[in-house]
Formats: sequence, C-alpha cells, structure tokens
Amino acid sequence: MPEIITLPEVDSTNNYLKSNKEFWKKNFLTIRAIRQTKGRGRLTKEWFSTERDLTFSFVYLPQTTITENLPLVTLHSGLAIYRVLLKIVEKDLYIKWPNDIYYKESKLAGILTELVMNNENKIMIVGIGINVNSKSDTIDNRPVTSLFNILKTPVHIENLLLDLMDEIEKTLGNITAPLTRKFKTEWMNSINNKIFYQKYQGSTLVEFKITGLTDLGELVVDVDGTRQIIRDGEINLISR
Ligand code: BTN
Repeated sequence: MPEIITLPEVDSTNNYLKSNKEFWKKNFLTIRAIRQTKGRGRLTKEWFSTERDLTFSFVYLPQTTITENLPLVTLHSGLAIYRVLLKIVEKDLYIKWPNDIYYKESKLAGILTELVMNNENKIMIVGIGINVNSKSDTIDNRPVTSLFNILKTPVHIENLLLDLMDEIEKTLGNITAPLTRKFKTEWMNSINNKIFYQKYQGSTLVEFKITGLTDLGELVVDVDGTRQIIRDGEINLISR
C-alpha cells in the first residue's frame, strides 16, 4: 500500500505535489485533501468539490521510456478507477475519453495528469477527483452526479481511496506499449459506444462514433465513414 497523507486544506493536491519536491522520490505517494480551494481540471477548467468528496493526487515514477507516455498513464489510471467504481455502481458507468467517468449522462469523476521534470527524470502527478457524498446535480450548468446520488447511501471515503490506490498500483504496474488487445477490449467495453460524440475541428462541430484506440491510446473515430485519429482536446457526448 502506498503512503497516504491527508491534509485539511490545500489549493490543489496536484499543485501541492508539484511544489513539494521531497515527495517526488516515492512512487505512488498520495496526497489527499479534505478541502481544495482551487481544484483544477483539464484544459484550464476549475474542479469544484466539497468536504464530502474525494480529491487526491499521487506521484507516478515512470519505470521505462514506455511508461513516460502521459496519455497511456491517464488511460490506465482511468480504467483502474472505472473498475473500482463499477463494483460499487454496477451499471450505467462509462469512461469518456480520455479521462472522465460518467454515470449515465452526468460526470462522476475526472483525472488530471501532469508532467514535472526532476533534472533529466520525468515524474507524473496524477490527480483524481470523485464526487462521493455530495448531493449536487449540476456544476456550471453541466450535469454532475455523486456516488451518494446514485446509491442513496453514503460511501466510506477512506476505504474507497485504499481500494482505488490498490487497483491503480496494479494497473500502472502493467502498462504496455503497444496497448494489448485485452486492454483495448476492456476499454472499449467501458465506453458508451452506442452514442455519438462531437468535437470542434477549427470552428466546425463534427459528429463521430468511437471505433477503437491506437496502440498508444489515441482515439480512433468514424466521421461520416472516414477513419480519423483524435489525439487531444475535448469531446462531448451528444444527448438525443
Ligand atoms: C477534469 O475532469 O478535468 C479533471 C479533474 C481533476 C480533479 C482532481 S481533484 C484532485 C486533483 N487536484 C486538482 O487540482 N485536480 C485534480
């Protein structure tokens, strides 16, 4: 089990690990904050959470040049979190590429993976936010949910964190590049590939279906019968 340090309040657990180099030597060292005052999401968004939720970040020390690949680390962390949450929620849970977890059409969890350099060595800081016992159903006009909203009963946050770190350690311990067929199949089963997604390409909004992952974890999509690869940015679910 990794060392877990719980702090009453920080701006962001990712920021805390980024600015405290003394923690950078310990693989999977985890900082949990009861309260975050400036939680960050991907693409400069904010991450809002309450004291009833789970916000934590851990250090990941890539063991080889393969495991220095940031999208692969995010994908593996996402699948590990998905596995643990699926045991609790049982159904209607989906990964939204690259790093969100949705229950039906509402966001339940997100991951922010960042890279820092220690001399020549790459170090990753993986931050995870899960809505656990809060009761909101919208944040900034976007639909969100929590484990409490889904289960109608509170979840033990400390035990959840232990289960998550256990699964994350196992999953990140087995990263491969190229991705294995087994990984790709499990990942494809974790997304809602019956539905359409959309993404801006310049100022045009294109609709697509997800058809697979490349060997390095990029998204393979079908836009009007044409195969395209999406490497970054944001994709949105289309509700019909
Ligand atoms: C996203 O959905 O865009 C990613 C959200 C990541 C939020 C977590 S909460 C713990 C860690 N600290 C942060 O400031 N962000 C991540």
